[in-house]
Amino acid sequence: MQDILEQLEKKRAAARLGGGQKRIDAQHAKGKLTARERIEVLLDEGTFEEWDMFVEHRCTDFGMEDNKIPGDGVVTGYGMINGRLVFVYSQDFTVYGGALSETHAEKICKVMDQAMKVGAPVIGLNDSGGARIQEGVASLGGYAEVFQRNVMASGVVPQISMIMGPSAGGAVYSPALTDFIFMVKDTSYMFVTGPDVVKTVTHEEVTAEELGGALTHTTKSGVADMAFENDVEALLMLRRLFNYLPLNNKEKAPVRKSGDPTDRMDLSLDTLVPENPNKAYDMKELIVKTVDDGDFFELQPDYAKNILIGFARIDGQTVGIVANQPLVLAGCLDIKSSIKAARFVRFCDAFNIPVITFVDVPGFMPGTSQEFGGIIKHGAKLLYAYAECTVPKITVITRKAYGGAYDVMASKHLRGDVNFSWPNAEIAVMGAKGAVEIIFREDKGDPVKLAAKEAEYKARFANPFVAGARGFIDDVIQPHETRKRIARSLVMLKDKKIENPWRKHGNIPL
Ligand code: HXC
Repeated sequence: MQDILEQLEKKRAAARLGGGQKRIDAQHAKGKLTARERIEVLLDEGTFEEWDMFVEHRCTDFGMEDNKIPGDGVVTGYGMINGRLVFVYSQDFTVYGGALSETHAEKICKVMDQAMKVGAPVIGLNDSGGARIQEGVASLGGYAEVFQRNVMASGVVPQISMIMGPSAGGAVYSPALTDFIFMVKDTSYMFVTGPDVVKTVTHEEVTAEELGGALTHTTKSGVADMAFENDVEALLMLRRLFNYLPLNNKEKAPVRKSGDPTDRMDLSLDTLVPENPNKAYDMKELIVKTVDDGDFFELQPDYAKNILIGFARIDGQTVGIVANQPLVLAGCLDIKSSIKAARFVRFCDAFNIPVITFVDVPGFMPGTSQEFGGIIKHGAKLLYAYAECTVPKITVITRKAYGGAYDVMASKHLRGDVNFSWPNAEIAVMGAKGAVEIIFREDKGDPVKLAAKEAEYKARFANPFVAGARGFIDDVIQPHETRKRIARSLVMLKDKKIENPWRKHGNIPL
């Protein structure tokens, strides 16, 4: 028996060594952790239960039958993050460059299937040269098996992808199907076709970093949510994100009470909005001063900065925040910001997270580039997302809410549960100047008359009381009491239940 136990330990030690010490050293030299080290950082200490350590590939081509490494390039299993269950797979670049074989894919599918059975999130740590070239179509089939499971799990359990090395070719589509993508700066990249193919086809000269590095995807493409300096920072931030999320779509997010009183007033908010309506201010200040302990976990902070999205807590309860940012493009809605916010609202809706919307929006961005780019279709995404959303929706208009953008930003008409406005708000079809130029076009040559009409329009419409008179605004509140009023609304909405009509699925304008 002793022999057998020793053999087992030997086998385990061999599997743990992956592609060997030389390749582990090379991985470290690049500033990257190994697949197992990453799991250790990600999970609570000592909680990792590994599966399929002894799985080997079945390939017999190109001498592969003599070249088997137990585990086959991916470490899989489950463990805990702050005591909450999570399934994980971590690709091992030291084994055939983390390339995905048929059996490697089977291991990933096994944890995904189990996660669905028990209702727990899946985290994928990606570091892979893509399809295992020696295996051909068997590997492609393996990818598609993973993709199918990504889609079935979407909206059922949270799925998070971390890109910690290469992710190229069709391999990018598994992360793309998941809810959040984090990347590590300088060591990770994602692209459908690499720099060499790009050069051949389009004659563009571009480096891997420029084409698909962390900065590219967090600032230009919007494919990734956040970028971090190194593996450890990225994994620790992933733990933080995880803490905001429920385990599945039937559960609520965990409550983490803080000492921050829900009736805390913040008098500085009374002067946040400048007297001059054309002057910008930082909406993030309102968010930070409203949520528990000023802790706002912002997602996509460097992409479409005219809208802010992210998680926070109020009285310990996770909330999703969406807010126009007047500091950038005056907080206009455009194509990128509409898509960014729409996807976030849909995530919150799928996972029982109330949505709080702070509105200061002068309208949709005008211009040919927006129209030619399809702002009609993309703006409709945000409208659709808010309209189908059944979780508690609380809206606070801090200043402008003009035109179609007023409707879109979680208005009463899109089943906003509680719609507040600050007293200085301007809720109207358009700004006074533009409105007067249209309805009093015949007075174009008479600036004195126009100025008087503009003042009249402003006095009549640029306030929250016209909307208030119709019940479109539930109350006009003092800025300093915003936190208290939101907290009370959340208590009132705790057991909110509404259902959309049965259908196979809606047809969101994609
Ligand atoms: C098998 C692979 C591999 C692969 C790398 N390796 N990629 N083995 N299949 N796809 C092996 C290498 O042979 C090497 O083995 C080890 O992994 C490390 O690779 P290096 O090239 O030494 O590392 P590095 O210089 O860091 O370059 C990493 C890399 C490069 C950029 C990922 O290896 C590369 O370009 N690989 C091929 C990528 C690719 O074309 N994949 C297929 C994409 S198509 P040794 O034994 O020397 O350590 C695809 C389709 C998916 O993925 C479709 C899904 C629908």
